[in-house]
Amino acid sequence: MKTITVGPDEIREAVSMREAIDAMRLGFLDLAAGKFEMPTRTVLGDGQFLVMPAHHQPTASAMVKTLSLNFERKPAITGTVVWSESSRLDHLVADAAAVTTLRTGAAVGVATDLLAAPDAGRLTLIGAGGQAPDQVRAVHAVRPLSRLTVVDTSPQRAEALVNLLAPELPDTELVTTLDAEAAVSDAELVCCATTATSPLFPKSALPTRVHVNAIGAFRPTMRELPDELLADSTVVIDELDAILEESGEIIHALEAGAITEDALTELGTALTAPHSPRGDRTVFKTVGVAMQDWVLAELLARKFLY
Ligand SMILES: NC(=O)c1ccc[n+]([C@@H]2O[C@H](COP(=O)([O-])OP(=O)(O)OC[C@H]3O[C@@H](n4cnc5c(N)ncnc54)[C@H](O)[C@@H]3O)[C@@H](O)[C@H]2O)c1
Repeated sequence: MKTITVGPDEIREAVSMREAIDAMRLGFLDLAAGKFEMPTRTVLGDGQFLVMPAHHQPTASAMVKTLSLNFERKPAITGTVVWSESSRLDHLVADAAAVTTLRTGAAVGVATDLLAAPDAGRLTLIGAGGQAPDQVRAVHAVRPLSRLTVVDTSPQRAEALVNLLAPELPDTELVTTLDAEAAVSDAELVCCATTATSPLFPKSALPTRVHVNAIGAFRPTMRELPDELLADSTVVIDELDAILEESGEIIHALEAGAITEDALTELGTALTAPHSPRGDRTVFKTVGVAMQDWVLAELLARKFLY
């Protein structure tokens, strides 16, 4: 019986973004096929602590993630992922911050690959915090970036992100700005990764063809996207129950009558069934579900335990 502990550097060395995206695609397909037992996560202290379990029935393996969140603190997200398999005695314990950024990026990679124009290359990223580097890496893995524009209310954080990513993006023009509306005006891809509580830009600021990922808002009081964008776009989500409980922008748009539930398509379903387009704008909204952490934990277990 052994317990292996895997730290952030080991996780990064062991799993490439490409590998994470490919595994995540299969995870979303299994989720849509009903192969996961996955209760909606437990939220404690108004979002300060999260507990997220998932059981993958075909492999009889399970993952539990516990997170502590404090956006006044850096890093804002810390915690532990524990993976086990019912036929074995061994356990894997992994750093939840690294797993979370990788798996959140990987989900955005799957969605962007499915929904964005094949030749899209200009990305505007709003929010240069802990999640941001893997958001960029994930989009770049499926749509090589010709330009990256980083927007943050803190210019220092935007600059630091660009400096961090520059060696990985030698052929990408790198820009920072404070002006989100101007920055999205000719973007082909947008990633929102902020803690904002009101929309980051109006729909009118966007071009007519664009793919928008929004990972930030995970409480009903938080929003990154305006109702009118959701009303006029093809909207793909990670998982309906989680979105209806936690996604501030979707809850707001539903309550305002801007959209109805049947306008929302889960990513796993969208991967198998062609969605009916509602215009040339596409949106992927994710609050993050435990299946994604199971996907990363399972990859790590295969590499470190067996
Ligand atoms: N969907 C998921 O699966 C998932 C996973 C992890 C984190 N998250 C969420 O993503 C968000 C970002 O997480 P993080 O760890 O990067 O947080 P963070 O605090 O490290 O970074 C957030 C960044 O957004 C910037 N920001 C805030 N409001 C802004 C605004 N209006 N305009 C421009 N920039 C703004 C901040 O200055 C900061 O740099 C959080 O809300 C977090 O809960 C979602």
